[in-house]
Amino acid sequence: MAKQFDVVVIGAGPGGYIAAIRAAQLGMSVACIDDWSTAAGKPAPGGTCTNVGCIPSKALLQSSENYEQVNHHFAEHGIEVKGVSLKLDTLIGRKDSVVKQNNEGILYLFKKNKITFFHGKGSFVAQVDGGWSIKVDGATPDDLVAKHVIVATGSKPRALPGLPFDETKILSNDGALRIPTVPKKLGVIGAGVVGLELGSVWRRLGADVTVLEAMPDFLAVADQQVAKEALKVLTKQGMKIVTGVKIGTVKSTAKSVTVPYTDAAGTEQSLVVDALIVSIGRIPHTDGLGVDVVSLKLDERGFVVVDADCKTNLSNVWAIGDVVRGPMLAHKAEEEGVAVAERIAGQHGHVNFATIPSVIYTSPEIAWVGRNEQQLKAAGVNFKVGTFPFMANGRARALGDTTGFVKIMADAKTDEVLGVHIIGPMASELISEAVTIMEFRGASEDIARICHAHPTLSETVKEAALAVDQRTRNM
Ligand code: FAD
Ligand code: NAI
Repeated sequence: MAKQFDVVVIGAGPGGYIAAIRAAQLGMSVACIDDWSTAAGKPAPGGTCTNVGCIPSKALLQSSENYEQVNHHFAEHGIEVKGVSLKLDTLIGRKDSVVKQNNEGILYLFKKNKITFFHGKGSFVAQVDGGWSIKVDGATPDDLVAKHVIVATGSKPRALPGLPFDETKILSNDGALRIPTVPKKLGVIGAGVVGLELGSVWRRLGADVTVLEAMPDFLAVADQQVAKEALKVLTKQGMKIVTGVKIGTVKSTAKSVTVPYTDAAGTEQSLVVDALIVSIGRIPHTDGLGVDVVSLKLDERGFVVVDADCKTNLSNVWAIGDVVRGPMLAHKAEEEGVAVAERIAGQHGHVNFATIPSVIYTSPEIAWVGRNEQQLKAAGVNFKVGTFPFMANGRARALGDTTGFVKIMADAKTDEVLGVHIIGPMASELISEAVTIMEFRGASEDIARICHAHPTLSETVKEAALAVDQRTRNM
């Protein structure tokens, strides 16, 4: 007999497991199916984010930053360290144990919230009396019937045509998180978020990193004032970034990888590296889900088609996270998961796409929310700008980390904050204040009048808000 549930979630990434928890909190009977396994074949819920994304990349970023600090910055503090050496297997092992703790944490949360977890591949079988028949293919096959289905099957890395990932020489984000020895020369195709974060990790650990980017502008998605500063700083750190390239046919042998490319001036070039990270974006993941069996509608790029409420073309079938339109971010997936669970419960779940923050965890960090200067100009919006550098912030000087600035743009007439762009220390944390202000449709004057603790990096945000009104005090 099929097991009956109010809600079956397919995929236990940040979208799926958070949706499952919210649905359980709202009193529904919930199952969650996920097929990710550890090397030993055990369940590893958490999706891309936990296993090969947000969490392991941040673990490696922290370890590699520690290595960079001890090698290059401790001396400024009068701390002399001799005989520094790198134990890469310990560093990677620590990352793996951070991932494992997160996998186990999610299994614990399933238990605590009385969510039935199935380890295996979930797929649609048919529409039946009482909902949808879902099959679980795994060590213990199962048949479920769900009143509501939430598809949260995420995304997978996009390969270059004719160049499949082998995770030894041609690396996706997965292989790039577990290179067994620091490559002498590392190539990266795509100067997006994965390329810059993982490129930074391996550069700090000693690799000579070259990043090849197709777009003529570096970080075209960011505010261009921020992007310029980022390019300057990352280049100074030793990362070689080449924009405006056209990649030719890559050749990979047991020894090396050769990347022919045409540079922005039209000259043929060739990059020879020990390994190549290909980070040119991600594609939606619906393999084996039984999309055709039930005619779940996909768009031309393979995303599950949803309306503003995450409803698909099938009744009581919802889809969230990376497998649908919108930014491919864990926190966006989570917000959609909560909103869908609340809508199923008859509530009015809502996601404000205008206030989803973006963060790039390089050093310095880059974070923003709302529109950037080029977008506001293109939209013909009349706006005021306030910027404040970390160089003029006491806490940043004490930390020895004074790169970058905060830039706030507010409506010229109403003073409503339209966008906040930060490059600098702890930008990932500082952006929260901007998100809160924008969520409440606050003004730059609101930030300027809020008491900020001294000495903190957050005073840079306050000073940038004061600068919108041309009354910054500390410059
Ligand atoms: P996923 O996390 O991809 O989870 C989907 C799950 O469903 C997977 O476990 C998959 O195996 C499973 N699944 C798929 N099909 C089936 C099926 N038929 N049956 C059963 N299970 C199935 N985002 C951030 O916000 N911050 C970051 O710092 C960040 N860092 C990143 C770093 C890297 C290197 C990468 C690659 C991504 C990063 N992201 C980050 C993006 C983030 O990981 C994704 O946006 C997020 O994981 C999407 O969540 P999701 O729940 O939609 O899907
Ligand atoms: P991305 O979309 O961030 O960057 C891809 C880059 O590759 C772009 O700059 C693009 O112009 C370039 N590109 C595409 N095709 C190319 C080609 N043929 N040759 C050269 N360059 C090419 O994608 P990325 O870095 O793979 O990350 C995937 C997703 O994961 C992102 O959408 C992001 O949302 C998410 N992510 C988020 C992180 C965070 O929030 N900190 C960290 C890592 C990933």
